[in-house]
This record gives sequence, C-alpha cells and structure tokens, in this order.
Amino acid sequence: MSHGSAPKPATARKSAALTGTVHIPGDKSISHRAFMLGGLASGETRITGLLEGEDVINTGRAMHAMGATIRKDGDEWIIRGTGNGALLAPETPLDFGNAGTGCRLTMGLVGVYDFESTFIGDASLSKRPMGRVLDPLREMGVQVKSTAGDKLPVTLHGPGTPGPLIYRVPMASAQVKSAVLLAGLNTPGITTVIEPVMTRDHTEKMLQGFGAELSVETDNAGVRTIRLEGRGRLTGQVIDVPGDPSSTAFPLVAALLVPGSDITIRNVLMNPTRTGLILTLREMGADIEVLNARLAGGEDVADLRVRASELKGVTVPEERAPSMIDEYPVLAVAACFAEGATVMKGLEELRVKESDRLSAVADGLKLNGADCDEGRGFLVVRGKPGGKALGSASGGRVKTHLDHRIAMSFLVMGLASEHAVTVDDATMIATSFPEFMDLMTGLGAKIEQE
Ligand code: S3P
Repeated sequence: MSHGSAPKPATARKSAALTGTVHIPGDKSISHRAFMLGGLASGETRITGLLEGEDVINTGRAMHAMGATIRKDGDEWIIRGTGNGALLAPETPLDFGNAGTGCRLTMGLVGVYDFESTFIGDASLSKRPMGRVLDPLREMGVQVKSTAGDKLPVTLHGPGTPGPLIYRVPMASAQVKSAVLLAGLNTPGITTVIEPVMTRDHTEKMLQGFGAELSVETDNAGVRTIRLEGRGRLTGQVIDVPGDPSSTAFPLVAALLVPGSDITIRNVLMNPTRTGLILTLREMGADIEVLNARLAGGEDVADLRVRASELKGVTVPEERAPSMIDEYPVLAVAACFAEGATVMKGLEELRVKESDRLSAVADGLKLNGADCDEGRGFLVVRGKPGGKALGSASGGRVKTHLDHRIAMSFLVMGLASEHAVTVDDATMIATSFPEFMDLMTGLGAKIEQE
C-alpha cells in the first residue's frame, strides 16, 4: 500500500503532442458507494467498471469485515450483501488507508449499530477532521471514543435505537451529507438532510436505485431537502461504473497544454455536480468537444475530444467550487500556462483534503517558477503561456504530502514546462488512478519513475 511503502519520486518532461484514445477507470465516488450499498443490500450486486484503486479496495475490505461476501469473476465484481440493518460487528479495526470518503461514509453506515467499530487510516487520513461526521452521529445517539480530538483512530458504538435527525450540512460536503443519509438507513423514521449548496448526488441516486424510500425537494434558492425512510429494504443491483471525471482531468489538461495534442477520452461521467472543471476550461478557451452524450445507469456519460488550446485566465465563480472541488490543483496547473490571471475563490475546503491542497499547490507552483498568491481561501495564478521558465532547472522536488492529486497535477505540469517537474512520491497515485502512468505514457507523455 502506498502509505506503507517507500516513496518513489517521478519526473515529467516537456513532451511532444499527446495523441490517442483512452478509457478512464471507474469513478471513485460511485465505486465506494457501489461496494457499500452492494455489501448492505439483500441479494446480489454485480459491478463492472469498478475503480480498483487502493481507496475503493479498502472499502470492499471493510464491507467484507462486516459480513458481505465479495468476489471477482472476470471483469465483474459480485457482492452478496447482508441485508439492511444486518451488518456484523467488525472483529478488527477497519483500515481505510488514504480514503476520506471510505472512512467517513462507513462511519455513518455502521456507526449507528449497537456494537463497536474502530476506524484507522494512514498518516494523511489520521490528520483529517472527522468531527464533521461525528457531530451528527453524536446527535443520533452514537458514542464516540477518540484519543486524538475527533481525528483517527476513532471507535463508535451506536445506541439500541438511533434517533432520526434533521441535519443542515454546515459545509459543502457530499461526504457529510452521505454519512448522515447512510446512518439513516438503520434508523427508524425519517432522516432529513438539508443541503444549502448542492454537492455530488451519487448517494441519493444510488440509494434510490437500490430501492430506498428517498425524496429530494429543491426550493427556489437551490436549498435541497433530502428525506430518507429508515430501515427499508435494499435490493442488489447491476451497476456499470462510468469513468471518473476527476481522473479524466489529468489527461484532459495535459492535452490542452502540450502543443499539437489531440486525444479522445471515452466513457466519462458527466453528472452536472462533477463537471465544473470542463465548464471552467471552456471559459478559458479550451477546445473540448463532447461526443456521444448518453445516459448509462441513470448517469450522463460522454466521450471527450480534447485538442491543445491557448488558454486565457478567468475568475472561477465561487459557487462552482463543489462541482470541481478535487480539480483545483490541476486547474491551477492549467492556469500557469494561460494568458493573464486566473482567480480561484471559496477554496477553504481544499485545506482539509488528503493534504492541505491549497498550500501544497501554491508551494509546488512557486518551486516550479509559477507566479501565484495564496490566501486563506483563494489562489491567484498569473500564467506564462508556452511554459517559459516553468519547471525546476535545479531538480527541486514538489512535496506531495501523501496526496495523489498533487502528484498527478504536477506531473501534468512537467509535460508542458520548459524544465522538468519532479514530485517527491508517486506511489499514492494508486489510491485513485493506478493506471495513470501507463495511460499517460501511452498518449506520449514523458514521465519516468525513479
Ligand atoms: C467525495 C466528496 C468530496 C470529494 C471526495 C469524494 C465523495 O469530499 O473531495 O474526493 O465521494 O463524496 P467532501 O465531501 O469532503 O467535499
């Protein structure tokens, strides 16, 4: 596992035109939820296109530890769930590695059960705030034991009968929304989540798909009220996971930046709660053609043809942040090559991702000759079209802080910079995108691992 293994630096160099067609591995958010809901539902769930990254595999292990059977037959994952309300007490701590989503959603899923469950993770996950999930769980009657002030390791013990909650999510977080809804599955009565700013809606859609009684009402101001009837029956489903738009972002931005590039990316999830980056890049002048737009398994999916483009800086509307929250590091890299300034605001949540992504990005950009200013919740990048003087002539290494998206973003930067860009560790890329190196080099990217 990346968090236990020795760091492996990697270097990306100025590349010739990227060309070819790629298929992006499955969406991480949907893959986690497919394992969780499949592991909980009665009967069999069959999943194709599952992301086989370390984060998702850890969620599968956790579901197995709580009674689900999981096997792989060819390309298909086959899960036999316990039935809603029938998870078993895990005998050992559940180790989520690097994965905030796996950990926080499972805290909701099992935390309300009347037994103990313990959650652990790697050095990155152990620094991340869990109070945002633990607070609503406490309100539902869950006892929380933590020696590290709402950080991992955490042990939960649910009450005999959890109390249904009406919970207004205090920050734009799909993980918090989802944790409360999943806790509601084993809670009698109606659990209500009020979401003032819409975040990715995979939990709602997939719960409905598995047969949960769940309704969503949106008022004129865009505030969403999600109501879930607890203790209903969930039934196994057939799921084909579309390609991850957050992983798509890396070859996509690389193709925009490397002159002469022309690539096609197949089977990309185009759920509007996830497409903020595409919108923003198009406003910057990116040539991204959406082909074969279609519906698959209740989700919008399309192929993307991306051609190298001259970008110009923009101000990204703050309210767009939830729909591109994981894409700011690679957008900041794109902005380094744009004419003028790109202003990104409303980025406070970036400080509590796999790393403090705002400072990791700003530090890495400065190390590689970019012109940027970092504030508490904003980043401004002034671009250098053509990549002149970008990269590190002296071989300085970007500190990735166990953060896969920092590693991939800076490797993309190196493909179009005058000098090479080196990251101090590329092993954790396997948490979300194990195929990254092969896929990028297959398109013609010059990336080498030490
Ligand atoms: C995710 C939600 C987001 C995102 C993460 C995946 C999810 O986190 O950054 O990569 O699958 O629900 P937050 O809920 O912390 O915004």
